[in-house]
Amino acid sequence: FAQSTGSITVSGNTGQTISKHLYGQFAEHLGRGIYDGFWVDKSLPVKKQGRIRLDVVEALKRIKIPNLRWPGGCFADEYHWRDGIGPAANRPRMVNSNWGGITEDNSFGTHEFLELCGLLGTEPYIAGNVGSGTVDEMSKWIEYLNSNSTSSVVQIRKQNGHPQPFKVSFWGVGNENWGCGGNMTADFYSDQYRRYASFAKDYPGASLKKIASGANADDYNWTETLMKKIPHGMMWGVSMHYYTIPTGHWGKKGSATSFTEDEYFNTMKNCLKIEELVTKHSAIMDKYDPEKKVALVVDEWGIWTDPEPGTDPGFLYQQNSLRDALIAGTTLNIFNNHCDRVKMAELAQTVNVLQALVLTEKDKMLLTPTYYIFDMYKVHQDAAYLNIKLNSPEYTVAGKSLPAVNASASRDAAGKVHISLVNLDLSKPVTISTQLKDINWSKVSGTILTSENITDINTFKQPGKIHLAAFNGAKKDGDKLSVTLPGKSVVTLELN
Ligand code: AHR
Repeated sequence: FAQSTGSITVSGNTGQTISKHLYGQFAEHLGRGIYDGFWVDKSLPVKKQGRIRLDVVEALKRIKIPNLRWPGGCFADEYHWRDGIGPAANRPRMVNSNWGGITEDNSFGTHEFLELCGLLGTEPYIAGNVGSGTVDEMSKWIEYLNSNSTSSVVQIRKQNGHPQPFKVSFWGVGNENWGCGGNMTADFYSDQYRRYASFAKDYPGASLKKIASGANADDYNWTETLMKKIPHGMMWGVSMHYYTIPTGHWGKKGSATSFTEDEYFNTMKNCLKIEELVTKHSAIMDKYDPEKKVALVVDEWGIWTDPEPGTDPGFLYQQNSLRDALIAGTTLNIFNNHCDRVKMAELAQTVNVLQALVLTEKDKMLLTPTYYIFDMYKVHQDAAYLNIKLNSPEYTVAGKSLPAVNASASRDAAGKVHISLVNLDLSKPVTISTQLKDINWSKVSGTILTSENITDINTFKQPGKIHLAAFNGAKKDGDKLSVTLPGKSVVTLELN
């Protein structure tokens, strides 16, 4: 195949930081995410702490998950926290009406979630119930979690084995309240937010970062209304949700593992749409908050395909191909490049659900291509953002085109510069000549994720088919860096 060429200029000292919280994850009571994912049967022959599966925990610890959002999703607005505390045998059962209509036995509740976060070394991000819960219920949950007073609710926490406050900080005030969270209008939700947030109190050593339930994709009116009606001191962030649907249609979304180049192209086009969404939501926020005090929080993103054939459609179990890795790399580059406003994001949904990092089957576990992107990109967490100017060749399929290459760069605390690059073109390698301003370096090394076919996946029979490898396609050329990216690849370079 003929090679394409492009160029990048990377320059230092923007004064901005890529928040580690852009690399957050989401775990809902949905399908096999919590139950049979993190929280398994006592008899399963794997290493566990209580019922928490430790091979999954160890794998996730390696990629340094900064935060974990729970218990939903749509589930959050039908979840009543008191059902999930105290002796497991006494906990009431409910039907998970959003996801498969299965029985939820509440054996995984507040204490179990926070134990999991402790094991992962991650910050909890809890979404409270606005849709079907009361202001008092949310307020008491926060008191239960964070207060050290002598109130009755705090005594119950102590009786349940946690004398010290948990000190939860990230707090979602509802989820998708324009839809499954109560079908509210933006005006009505803004007023509700003000009520719920008023009683979501700070306790000593635990001040809340409250996050308003945000827009569905391009619902700009939602963001505008919230920014106008909610005092900015009352919210740390406003969220936004966007899923990449291969076909662009919620009915028939497209297969996770079997797709043509044309379908792949359309999927990537839909993935790149998140750049436009983030830019336009940020522009609205800039109008009301020019100092960028309120964060844009993309707390659900990822590819959503048809479920794996033969699985419960309400469980949203899907395989994860090299295409998913390119989506993850591209999306994280976009978030890095918008780190002045986007301060937090959560991929949906960690284990066995949607664009998962880990899949499990009985005692087996595999790491998906998406997992490896988070592994490669963890170097950007809390690193200084470097400005990037990119001149990319086009990737053209059947007369349609999009930029073949996307990239982002940062400098870590030790002074090492990392540049992450994605080549979306399935077949053509791209050679990029890179100019580095204000950056001293003498050596370059790198890591690559690619595979023979874009549809390649890791399976329980062949869990190591797609894996990270050393990358030797970058070289110093005088002051410049020259990089040749193979087709359908993600590369992270380290310069020091
Ligand atoms: O992630 C699956 C679902 O997608 C979540 O429960 C909901 O918030 C969104 O619509």
